[in-house]
Amino acid sequence: MKLLILNGPNLNLLGQREPDVYGTLTLTALNRQIAEHIEELNVGRPQDQHIEAFFSQSNHEGVLVDTLQSAQRAYEGIVYNPAAHTHYSVALRDAIAGVPTPVVEVHLSDIATREEFRHISLMEDVCIAQFKGEGAASYLKAVDYLVDYLDSTAE
Ligand code: DQA
Repeated sequence: MKLLILNGPNLNLLGQREPDVYGTLTLTALNRQIAEHIEELNVGRPQDQHIEAFFSQSNHEGVLVDTLQSAQRAYEGIVYNPAAHTHYSVALRDAIAGVPTPVVEVHLSDIATREEFRHISLMEDVCIAQFKGEGAASYLKAVDYLVDYLDSTAE
């Protein structure tokens, strides 16, 4: 089972960026935590059902549209933090809606309790679930949800 962990604009700055909101973990450290979590999930899974994670980040809307479009051929599911694009990118919403690959939306912060412009997610209703407000745990819960979803649809 191949999963893509995709991050949008400014998430390459994790660690230095607004640490009071996003914490002090760098993107590299966050990705390492996700990889370790997936290794734990793989203990006890049959070899042919092992989960493999791939990591990608871009600051560019068009690159992210291309990534989502080509992901449908390479991955069974996507965990995606669309960052600022969450709140305004119809192009990224349409990309998610246009591919059959299930996408789980994640946010480190709780977008529902921050500034009003962050309350709207254009991605929410084209994703299979949304996890927010729990820092790195939002990503781990998103991975768990996606793996359970893919396991249940494979049965
Ligand atoms: C974010 C929340 C967005 O509103 C913001 O623009 C981000 C990060 C989060 O992970 O909490 O860049 O997606």
